[in-house]
Amino acid sequence: MSPDDKKRQVAEEALKYVTPDTIIGIGTGSTANHFIDALAKIKHQIKGTVASSNATADRLKSHGIPVFDLNSVDEISAYFDGADESNRHLHLIKGGGGALTREKIVAAASQKFICIADDSKLVDVLGKFPLPVEVIPMARSYVARALVKLGGKPVWRENFTTDNGNIILDVHNLQIIEPVKLETELNHITGVVTNGLFALRPADLLLLGSDNGVKIVK
Ligand code: 5RP
Repeated sequence: MSPDDKKRQVAEEALKYVTPDTIIGIGTGSTANHFIDALAKIKHQIKGTVASSNATADRLKSHGIPVFDLNSVDEISAYFDGADESNRHLHLIKGGGGALTREKIVAAASQKFICIADDSKLVDVLGKFPLPVEVIPMARSYVARALVKLGGKPVWRENFTTDNGNIILDVHNLQIIEPVKLETELNHITGVVTNGLFALRPADLLLLGSDNGVKIVK
């Protein structure tokens, strides 16, 4: 089975975790796109969605699925999104698509976070995938120097601007043994908007598409 087939498989399975008559949060990326396409089949069962990016909002609307502003919503029953890496504690690296800030906000506002991915995303130690950090543009060089001091090799994601008008530094060469500690340290660098570690608020459930069906990690 190709990685994309596994993503489609897990996205279809995740429909079982959608609570009827509620608002759900929707992530960004190819796995989230499969989830949106699957969700279209049961769109009349939910009240609507909150999107984690403009691209996701556009795709949801193209299917006729209602999209609400987070500020107009009291409760999100669950957030469905992919990941670039996950360890067995369900600490994640996210932000390969550059939507990490809104993803983190919608995840924080949701009662449950259901992560959906193909099985290649499960790793023993986070960090082989470069860690995305969203930065205020004028702070780029200052933040890059601070990231070097933490042992990383930041690379500016050129020709890319986030939905919030900021830039991304992808941090290579990290072996993330203590994800909660590193997430906290990165949050304290002035000029950093968000980092792509989701460890302070990890996923609650990880569904993995594989050749042998969908595996559950919790
Ligand atoms: C986007 C993300 C995605 O969830 C992550 O990059 C995984 O993407 P895909 O589902 O395409 O493998 O964090 O910012």
